[in-house]
Amino acid sequence: MMAPNPPKLQDLPASCRDILAEYSKQVKKLGILLFELLSEALGLNPNHLNDIDCAEGLAVLCLYYPACPQPDLTLGTTKHADNDFLTVLLQDHIGGLQILHQSKWIDIPPLLGALVVNIGDLLQLITNDRFKSVEHRVLANQVGPRVSVASSFCTGSVQSYPKLYGPIKELLSEDNPPKYRETTVRDYCKYYNEKGLDGTSALLHFKL
Ligand code: OGA
Ligand code: NI
Repeated sequence: MMAPNPPKLQDLPASCRDILAEYSKQVKKLGILLFELLSEALGLNPNHLNDIDCAEGLAVLCLYYPACPQPDLTLGTTKHADNDFLTVLLQDHIGGLQILHQSKWIDIPPLLGALVVNIGDLLQLITNDRFKSVEHRVLANQVGPRVSVASSFCTGSVQSYPKLYGPIKELLSEDNPPKYRETTVRDYCKYYNEKGLDGTSALLHFKL
């Protein structure tokens, strides 16, 4: 967790602590900008999503996928949507990331200098399906290792634990009633983690 309460730098491995701190700072800035743009796209005040703390918490997951001698015998990272508001993904040159689009798996080939931005389940919930979380997976690969850094925006402070998130009132109308019940981020994540990556969407549990 690099925000809002980052670890002490000396507790991180020396080989990556400086770059991790600097990268997290830059990704946090990018996240705030993305939430401003996404708020505008929804016709809301540009500060709306940041004001409800969508970018408050930042988990930086540094992932290492060893080379796999027999990829056809394993699953890699199975199909899932992320349990956050937004994920900013940096992948290396190996590849393997795919998204599910109209029931087909589409490769997201690595592009030098590019970041992949994925909508997470919680943004789908609060936008009442205006933005859809994307289902994705990572295939195991004979070539490797593959390294990626997934920066996950979610609320993060103890103070925000009791806060309820549901479809944003300004987006609702008689023709567009809420599709989800309110939940805390904590309860949502607890359900998501207990369910596991079984190929089904955790959002179904919160549908009205
Ligand atoms: C994730 C994820 C993709 C990748 O961490 O949720 O989907 O490329 N990572 O490692
Ligand atoms: Ni993911």
